[in-house]
Amino acid sequence: MWKTGISNIKPDDIVTRGYRQEDLIGAVPFASVFFLLLKSRMPDKKEAKMIDALITSSIDHGVTPPSTHAARIVASAGVPLPSAVAAGMLAVGDVHGGAIEDGAKVLQEWVKSMLENDWSLEETATRMLAQLQKEKKRMPGFGHRIHKRDPRTKRLFGLAQELGFEKEHVRLSLAVEKEFAKKKTLPINVDGAIAAIISDMSFDWRLGKAFFVMGRVAGMIAHVYEEMTTQKPMRRMCVQETEYDGPWER
Ligand code: LMR
Repeated sequence: MWKTGISNIKPDDIVTRGYRQEDLIGAVPFASVFFLLLKSRMPDKKEAKMIDALITSSIDHGVTPPSTHAARIVASAGVPLPSAVAAGMLAVGDVHGGAIEDGAKVLQEWVKSMLENDWSLEETATRMLAQLQKEKKRMPGFGHRIHKRDPRTKRLFGLAQELGFEKEHVRLSLAVEKEFAKKKTLPINVDGAIAAIISDMSFDWRLGKAFFVMGRVAGMIAHVYEEMTTQKPMRRMCVQETEYDGPWER
C-alpha cells in the first residue's frame, strides 16, 4: 500500500490536503497553496505574504549563476523547454542555492542549544563561529560574489520584522553578522536570510533548497524561452577561450 497525506484523487474528484482543488483555483494564491502542501494547513495572512516574498526573492539573478547558465546552454542545443530547465535544476547544489539548507540546519541546531543552555545571542554567535572554525567550515549564507549588501536580504528582513517572523533564528544570524563585522564585512546574503526566516516560520531545514527552487524555476523558464526565441542555436565557448594543457603529441 502506497500511503500519502497530500492528495486524494478519485474519478472526477481531486482533494488536496483536505481542500477541493476547484475551490483553491482562483481563490488561493499559488504561494499559499505551496504552504498548504508543505504544512498541511492554510497560511494566515502574514504567513501568506512572507512565503510569497521568499519565493519572489529567489526568482532570478541574471544569466551568470550556474543553474541559469546551464539551462541556457542546454536550451541552445535544441532540447525541449522542460529538459533545459531540468538541466539548470541539476546545478542547484551545495554552493549554489544550497546555503539555505545548510544555513537553516546550523541556525536550528544552535538556536536549540542557545535555548537549552540559556546563552545570549552574542554568546551563541561566538560559540557557533568558533566551532565552525574548529571544523574548518564556513558559515553558510554570508557574503556574495557581486553584492556588498544583498538588497534582497534587507527587504526580506524588513518584511520578517513587520510580519512578526523576526525571532531567534533571524536574531542569531544578525548576531553572527555583527560578530563577523568585528574583523571583516561579511553580510548575510539572500540564502542566509531565507534560511533564518524559514527557520523562524518552523520549517524543517531539509526544505531549505525548496524555496530557492520554487522561485528559480520560474526565472529559468524565462531564460530558456529567451534563449530559444532570440539567440542563435548551439551557444558554446569559442576555441580561443580554451587552452590545452595536457601532454604534447608523442
Ligand atoms: C543567486 O540568486 O543565484 C545568486 O545570489 C547567486 C549568485 O552568485 O549569483
